[in-house]
Amino acid sequence: MPIVIAAINGKGGAGKSTALMNIAGEYALRGKTVAMIDMDARSNLTRWWSDCREKDAQAEGIDVVGHKTAKALNGFLGRNGEGFDYILIDTPGEDTALVDPVIGWSDLVISPIQPSKREVLGAIDCFEAILRVNEARGRSCRHGVLKTRISLTVRYTELYRKIRPIIEDKVGTYLFRTEIMERNVYKDIQNGIGTLQMQDTTEAVAKARRETQNLVGEIDALLSGADGFGRTS
Ligand SMILES: Nc1ncnc2c1ncn2[C@@H]1O[C@H](COP(=O)(O)OP(=O)(O)OP(=O)(O)O)[C@@H](O)[C@H]1O
Ligand SMILES: [Mg+2]
Repeated sequence: MPIVIAAINGKGGAGKSTALMNIAGEYALRGKTVAMIDMDARSNLTRWWSDCREKDAQAEGIDVVGHKTAKALNGFLGRNGEGFDYILIDTPGEDTALVDPVIGWSDLVISPIQPSKREVLGAIDCFEAILRVNEARGRSCRHGVLKTRISLTVRYTELYRKIRPIIEDKVGTYLFRTEIMERNVYKDIQNGIGTLQMQDTTEAVAKARRETQNLVGEIDALLSGADGFGRTS
């Protein structure tokens, strides 16, 4: 059975596609097979992948396919799901009817947020949808909120300090300990130069790699149930 991880935040630009590219790159490096499913009509992920092909920089072990409807997703996973170790589903940055069916397939949903009120609210909406789908379908999809594009100045803001109490104490979902910092290398990989893990190891790349490894370590812990957090049922 493949492990299915989706990135959902109904508020756009939070860092969903970038997070999935980095996670995919990490699993591929470990020799796992990864299917990335681009459900966003703007096809950012699919474009990235075709840019990578032009530069001969597609990562081994990763396949990217576009499926824009729940029906197409169901069809793909029904036919091909078993052929991959990991399925990563990228969703549009808007409120969409795709959310429930995607959650229905997922073992873990990651909601990236930049410290802004609308993105925090987007992550909370996503958690509520997970609770609803888990209840309706008897599933136990996990949820984790991922702070992204963090800078040193952001860390001094009031909202930043409130994120943990809001997400963990008030809402009751998991907040990843790993934070994804604002880094140019994360932007650079969007230009079709392959995954983060394929880049020459400059100091900046090494930092991003460590961050990603920490994130994937937390994902593995969440999925193995080693951590009490992120349980939604
Ligand atoms: N950690 C980061 N550091 C610097 N830039 C980043 C980081 N994460 C994402 N970005 C940049 O921010 C922009 C939005 O990121 P991304 O496309 O991953 O978000 P998204 O949630 O998928 O957006 P959408 O909802 O539009 O699909 C992109 O230009 C990306 O390169
Ligand atoms: Mg995106």
